[in-house]
Amino acid sequence: MDHFLYRNGVLHAEDVAIPEIAAAVGTPFYVYSRATLERHFRLFDEALDGMDHLVCFAMKSNSNQAVLKIIGDLGAGVDTVSIGEYLRAKAAGIPGERIVFSGVGKTREEMRIALEGGIRQFNVESEPELRALNEVALSLGVKAPIAVRVNPDVDAKTHAKIATGKSENKFGIPIAKARAVYGEAAAMAGIEVVGIDVHIGSQLTQLEPFEQAYLKVADLTRALRADGHNIRRLDLGGGLGIPYTRSNEAPPLPAQYGEVIKRTVGHLGCEIEIEPGRLIAGNAGILVSSVIYLKEGEGRDFLIVDAAMNDLLRPAMYDAHHDIVPVIEAPAATEQVPYDVVGPVCESGDTFAKQRMMTPLGEEDLVAFRSAGAYGAVMASEYNSRPMVPEVLVDGDQFAVIRARPTYEDMINRDTVPEWL
Ligand code: LLP
Repeated sequence: MDHFLYRNGVLHAEDVAIPEIAAAVGTPFYVYSRATLERHFRLFDEALDGMDHLVCFAMKSNSNQAVLKIIGDLGAGVDTVSIGEYLRAKAAGIPGERIVFSGVGKTREEMRIALEGGIRQFNVESEPELRALNEVALSLGVKAPIAVRVNPDVDAKTHAKIATGKSENKFGIPIAKARAVYGEAAAMAGIEVVGIDVHIGSQLTQLEPFEQAYLKVADLTRALRADGHNIRRLDLGGGLGIPYTRSNEAPPLPAQYGEVIKRTVGHLGCEIEIEPGRLIAGNAGILVSSVIYLKEGEGRDFLIVDAAMNDLLRPAMYDAHHDIVPVIEAPAATEQVPYDVVGPVCESGDTFAKQRMMTPLGEEDLVAFRSAGAYGAVMASEYNSRPMVPEVLVDGDQFAVIRARPTYEDMINRDTVPEWL
């Protein structure tokens, strides 16, 4: 459930009419609902009720400072994958002891900053990384808390570009090698083993792959404990999918996911961490755009909107479906027509939808791309010299710009021309 609903035929974000924001900010823009963000965070928190746990928001899905503050104020941790994300989380007031550092390519410099600033744990993804972390920690005279990310070789049954838990993927250490790697880690003076980490992919719409992976983690926990390691924390990753269409059968709910966790690893007495991103932010945001032209093509009509693939990359990159709805609802019984919804960028891939059935639209009409709060603004670029799309936050009947649209000058002045040119 989200808070983007029609009232008297006008799409609202909570209590604010979308046209009101469009008039103030211009299009395109992202808008997020605080109530939806909070609701989704709480669903996970409640799903793990009764277990010692920390929900670490995967901030790669949405790293705006205001969004991080909302979630951080509810007690969330964050999963970060670069020192840029780490510093953003810190800037939003999230303390180091609630920040997890994941990713296959952490540099020594990133490790140093995180160790100096405070970190909950590093999710280590390879032996060379483990050795580098040991060296950096020793040079600072500290111990780095770690979980080893294991690759359980489980098929997440999701889009190939966002599946991470098969042995052919670059992520983690093969689970069969884990005992040897933990043995090596235990002997390192700069490393403190605290747990195990796993993450098998994103936009999972079934629970079974989680169940398979978590059962393997449970087995590994027992084996590592028998080897003498103090495994006290399990980071189970993120990945629970969201409904991208209203008509589709909805993916499982956080509560059902929580049941899987309790059933598979609940008896181990470990502190549980999860790293959801998409389910917290995805349906808490929409991208609002306006129609520039309606172009009659051969056998098809193109709805040319002012948002493009640089603003919302998912359709071009993953063939992702986003529902596209008019901001002003057409009267009931209005017949729908097929549109190819496209942006102004000079690539055929800049297509949001093909032959999408919609009520008729015309120039300057507003449309909203639903489910755009996760992996939307964070993946935006200035391709085609289109300034970065702004972000707006709604809270009840108030709204605020939480990232302003740069001016053309801002954009151009970021480059420097050497004086010798
Ligand atoms: N933890 C780790 C280690 C991850 O790599 C990811 C996502 C998450 C947690 C959060 O997964 P979520 O709960 O959001 O599914 N850009 C793609 C998604 C990439 C996901 C990458 N890793 C998209 O737009 O679909």
